[in-house]
Formats: sequence, C-alpha cells, structure tokens
Amino acid sequence: MSNASFSDRLVDRLAQAARVTVLTGAGTSAESGIPTFRDPDGLWEQFDPQELANVNAFLENPALVQGWYAHRRKLAQDTEPNPAHHALAQLEQHLDGFTLVTQNVDNLHQRAGSDDVVELHGNITRNHCIDCERSASDDEMEAIAEGEPARCPTCDGYIRPDVVWFGEMLPQEALQRAQEAATQAEVFLSVGTSAVVHPAAGLPLTAQQHGAYLVEVNIEDTALTDTADEILRGQAGAVLPPLAEAVATRRSTA
Ligand code: OAD
Repeated sequence: MSNASFSDRLVDRLAQAARVTVLTGAGTSAESGIPTFRDPDGLWEQFDPQELANVNAFLENPALVQGWYAHRRKLAQDTEPNPAHHALAQLEQHLDGFTLVTQNVDNLHQRAGSDDVVELHGNITRNHCIDCERSASDDEMEAIAEGEPARCPTCDGYIRPDVVWFGEMLPQEALQRAQEAATQAEVFLSVGTSAVVHPAAGLPLTAQQHGAYLVEVNIEDTALTDTADEILRGQAGAVLPPLAEAVATRRSTA
C-alpha cells in the first residue's frame, strides 16, 4: 500500500500493540528548516563530511569543526519542533510500550515533549572535553567567536560536540536499547530516513524479521520501500498528526 493516508489496520495495530518503536531521521526535522544529509540541498552537499565530521579533521582544525557545529547548533536552537515531532510526543503519551529512536542530533524531539529519546548519533546541544570528558557549557564554547578553538577550563583539552563522527562507535547503551526495541516491536515506523546508514538502517529490518508490521513515512522511495508493509508517502509533518490523533481516539473509545 502506498498512500499518504493510513489504513484502519495500522491504527488498530498501533492502538493495540504492546510495543511500538519509531526510528526518525533528518527528514523528520526538514519541515523545521534543518537541511537533511542526502537531499540535493542537504548538509553533505555543501560540506565534505570527511573534512569536518571525523576526529582527525577535528584535531587538525578544531576551530573550524567547532565553528561548523556552532552554526548547526544555532540553526537547531533557532528553529521550532514541527507537527511531526509533536505527533510523536503525543504517541508517546498514548502508548505504553513506545520507544522513540532518533538519528537526529538537533534535540527537536526533546523540545517537542518526547521524554525518553534514544539518541543513536548523540546530541548537538551537548559538548565535552576530548581529554577529561568534562561537560562544557555554552559559555565555554564562546571562545569560538574569537577564532580560537574552545578549550576545557579544567585541563585545556579541546571541546567537541557529543555527536558520533565517521569512524566512531555509536553509544553502546543507546544502540542496545534501540536493538531491543526493534526486536520487540509489534509496529515499527521508519520516519524521514534514507535508511542507508548502519547500524540504524538495520533496525527496521530487524523489527520486521521479528514480526513487526513495518511502516515507512517518507516523501520518496528509500532502501526500505520494497520491504515495508505500509508506505505513507508524504511529509512527516502532514502524515503523522492525523495518525497520532486517530490512535488517541481509538484508544479512548476502546
Ligand atoms: P538523509 O538525508 O540520508 O535522508 C533524509 C530522508 O528524509 C530522505 O529519505 C528524504 O526523502 C526524507 N525526507 C525529506 N523531507 C521529508 C519530510 N518532510 N517528511 C518525510 N521524509 C522526508 O538523512 P538520515 O537518513 O537521517 O549520521 O541520515 C542518516 C545519517 O547519515 C545521519 O544521522 C548522519 C548521516 O551520516 C551521522 O552524522 C552519524
């Protein structure tokens, strides 16, 4: 099935499931004005990720990488969660066994009210020292404005964002929670992700192999489209609010 409108079967399954898991990607924040990674105007089209998003590049030019992340952090902080983020926060309220797993680092799910977000790729609003791992405040990041790398006031190490860079491991606790939630899900929604970056991209397939009803929400075909059980073709901010509303109604009338 491929349509922006969802099936009654999906509403029933969501309302009745003991475990529902959602994986979100950059497309979920696109309607907030944050560029995605692989679309034509995506971040990676304008910057070489190998140049900026790996630890060697950071050590070679910390001020440049800190500056790029400061720009992205400001973009995220200056924008607002969109209806897709709010709908997922609403689903969390209505469903007991609900797990939200995100590849996004923009903190918009949390700002929309999602209480328990599994952050697979970290969170751009946090920073820490690469040497002593002490958390760094926004004030300590201000040094970037002067063109010098921001350094830890305790040990003088460079300060880096709490995000996963190329070649780095994902936070193991988050990955384990995500894999458990995928394995146990009766319904799995893959929202606004191209589903090509592993290990996150493996989660929808793991869920389906363990019996989940797999739903894709995306504006276009992805690596997952052929295998999904239901495809909701449209913007996440248009597709998810009526779905969350229908689930809430079904739950209240059950
Ligand atoms: P991508 O940029 O690869 O994919 C974004 C997806 O969102 C595409 O499939 C678009 O079709 C879809 N999309 C765009 N606008 C949408 C909308 N309004 N509603 C629904 N879908 C929409 O982003 P990700 O899949 O999140 O990793 O990328 C995964 C990872 O690749 C990122 O987390 C990042 C990058 O390397 C790290 O930085 C570790």
